[in-house]
Amino acid sequence: MKRVYIVKALSGTDIDKEVLVKGWVRTRRDSKGGFSFIELNDGSCFRNLQIIIDADLDNYQNEVLKLFPGSSIAVKGTLVKSQGGGQSVEVKANEVKVYGYCDPEEYVIGKQRVSFERLREIAHLRARTNTFGAVTRVRNKLAKATHDFFQERGFFYINTPIITASDCEGAGEMFRVSTLDLSALPKSEGRVDFSHDFFGKEAFLTVSGQLEGECYATGLGNIYTFGPTFRAENSNTSRHLAEFWMIEPEMAFADLDDDAELAEEYIKYLITLVLNECSEDMEFFNKHIDKTILETLHHVNESEFMRISYTEAIEILNKSGQQFEYDTIWGRDLQTEHERFLTEKEFKRPVIVTHYPREIKAFYMKQNDDGKTVAAMDVLVPKIGEIIGGSQREDDLQKLDARIQEQGMSLAPYWWYRDLRKFGSVPHSGFGLGFERFVQFVTGMDNIRDVIPFPRTPKSAEF
Ligand code: 4AD
Ligand code: MG
Repeated sequence: MKRVYIVKALSGTDIDKEVLVKGWVRTRRDSKGGFSFIELNDGSCFRNLQIIIDADLDNYQNEVLKLFPGSSIAVKGTLVKSQGGGQSVEVKANEVKVYGYCDPEEYVIGKQRVSFERLREIAHLRARTNTFGAVTRVRNKLAKATHDFFQERGFFYINTPIITASDCEGAGEMFRVSTLDLSALPKSEGRVDFSHDFFGKEAFLTVSGQLEGECYATGLGNIYTFGPTFRAENSNTSRHLAEFWMIEPEMAFADLDDDAELAEEYIKYLITLVLNECSEDMEFFNKHIDKTILETLHHVNESEFMRISYTEAIEILNKSGQQFEYDTIWGRDLQTEHERFLTEKEFKRPVIVTHYPREIKAFYMKQNDDGKTVAAMDVLVPKIGEIIGGSQREDDLQKLDARIQEQGMSLAPYWWYRDLRKFGSVPHSGFGLGFERFVQFVTGMDNIRDVIPFPRTPKSAEF
């Protein structure tokens, strides 16, 4: 007999038929009338399927009564209209097969509410909770929608290297990749001699696929990457991971306005999909995680994103009368508190801030004619702050070289990137969306560690 998933069983199309379902017991209740109720979940959807097991069943005493939360079983039975109020259909079991028992003394999940902090310590088991099931299903849909969005628009999906020799953001926050023996490093003139290393030079985990993405955009037109990126920044915040996933589209013949337009369309596309296709999981988030999340998402979808320059943003912050921890002085980067003020209080919708001072942005951004700012954009959303960072790229070789050198970097390793400006240079633009920040944004989850299966953060890489 073919197994049906609980999401299908609950749809009721198999009513009055014999079905086979498999999953993990969420709860078991025994009634005095001589039968037990089991709430069964198989991950296919948020809801559980109720199983009614008659005490007459052969293995009732010896096996069914030993089923506690976490046990895995298969049930054959008839799918019937439910008698009780809570659910529409249930299964009257004819046969219960036990795959694995679960000791209630040892197994913490399912007894009482376990805190998110505690669940991070047992991240190998947290997929069995309501919250992590819901987060995982939403995250999955967002990944699919990302591919759909770009594919529908003719963007090509490319895979950029994870191991790289260049620092894209120029921020020096890279993890080293090496096969050298740390206790016996080869030295030359007092310094480590990387010519003996695996790649014959220094290598790192990538912080962004952008530079390689630009190579392909300037041949194929529009491309996007969707892959893991790594940052060795020691930021222990609820919005930073050392390993996170980023989506980076890159468009040839596109300027900053085109870039901002694509970003807004993409965000709205993802929200619409989640609202339409994850309604059960989203209701859970709205009820138990953030009571305003559905309202916020609908509102974001209906509003036109506000566009202001960095200079305007600083003026607004200075006039706001608001007390901030960090000063708002022209030339300094915006902090999350500033970003959140702009999007949550001042404009009450997403804000795209453009034209940042060149000193605080990466070397590859296009320099504006004012000599002070670059064609950068950050997209800010409520509760998160920056969710996207992007820019038009510098396409003038001389200006690019000047910036690389100004930032104290050498030109040599960027020879291939510079070539793009020598051979048929075009205006081009792109951005990076932090995937986990987006999952946080749509689910209302407070901590970024709880929207990725196994978070990597400073001093933490257990699993
Ligand atoms: O603003 P960032 O650093 O931009 C880039 O990496 C560009 N190369 C993107 C491009 O233009 N192709 O990072 C982009 C986004 C941020 O807006 C944020 O959402 C996310 O990546 N992000 C992080 N997410 C989680 N943990 C971290 N440590 C993150 N750092 C950046
Ligand atoms: Mg940024």
